[in-house]
Amino acid sequence: MPLVEINAVSKQYPRRAGLRMEWQAVVRDVSFAIEPGETLGLVGESGSGKTTVARMVLGLVSASSGTVRVDGVDLGRASAREMRRLRRQMQPVFQDPYAALNPRMNVLEIVSEPFLIHGRELGFATSRAALRAKAVELLRAVGLDASALTRHPHEFSGGQRQRINIARALALRPRLLILDEPVSALDVSVAAQIVNLLRGLQREHGLTYLFISHSMPLVRYLSTRIAVMERGRLVEMGEAEELCANPREPYTRKLLAATPELPAAMGP
Ligand SMILES: Nc1ncnc2c1ncn2[C@@H]1O[C@H](COP(=O)(O)OP(=O)(O)OP(=O)(O)O)[C@@H](O)[C@H]1O
Ligand SMILES: [Mg+2]
Repeated sequence: MPLVEINAVSKQYPRRAGLRMEWQAVVRDVSFAIEPGETLGLVGESGSGKTTVARMVLGLVSASSGTVRVDGVDLGRASAREMRRLRRQMQPVFQDPYAALNPRMNVLEIVSEPFLIHGRELGFATSRAALRAKAVELLRAVGLDASALTRHPHEFSGGQRQRINIARALALRPRLLILDEPVSALDVSVAAQIVNLLRGLQREHGLTYLFISHSMPLVRYLSTRIAVMERGRLVEMGEAEELCANPREPYTRKLLAATPELPAAMGP
């Protein structure tokens, strides 16, 4: 069974047109599935609807029509309890790690907060010592050490902040990470390190990724399959290598031509 299955999904937003309101379709009739353990790359120009798709998969906005299923459950019909369970299974990682981190919390608090919120329900120990041990384990997994625990987000570089964000996302052992432009705000060499970290984490933990990016080379490097969005529509989808070698759509060719090559640090 696919972990994510979206079927004929559309999303419309109201928009002011002069004195009237009209509906603007920002996602139109999109269908795809993500199998456990794979990375589906979602690529397209700015405004093509990628983040809107991600937010519908996360259950943060509802589809105007069509169905979104996660782990077989239709999000449009899920109970609050099922929704809580599914929310733990899928964690977002967004472009701007600073915006996602509470500046007043230290890293121990940031990384262990998910355990305080969900821990009891999941049977995690939530004593101080247990939380600290968990936090250290998560930091190690993303290449940071215990010295980070008492520091605050502003004391870290952009790449380190994204590592903290990823550590937090991994806390409750999710199955799916929704990675929305996770390295777009970072320098090329730092981006390469984070992408390689994501690759390693996926192998180690059998994670499934929805990886969103403008950058074709980046998407190609990380993805099993690629879905291409243009103005709300999914115009082409296929195996990553095949799609990049033989793009059918002129739009896909344009995206391939527009983006620079990967830095050397990201060779296959
Ligand atoms: N809450 C909203 N209300 C109204 N319009 C919205 C809303 N969210 C997104 N849109 C519009 O939907 C369209 C698609 O936006 P979306 O953020 O999904 O694109 P994107 O592909 O993620 O773009 P980018 O690459 O710039 O992140 C845009 O025209 C945007 O203005
Ligand atoms: Mg976006």
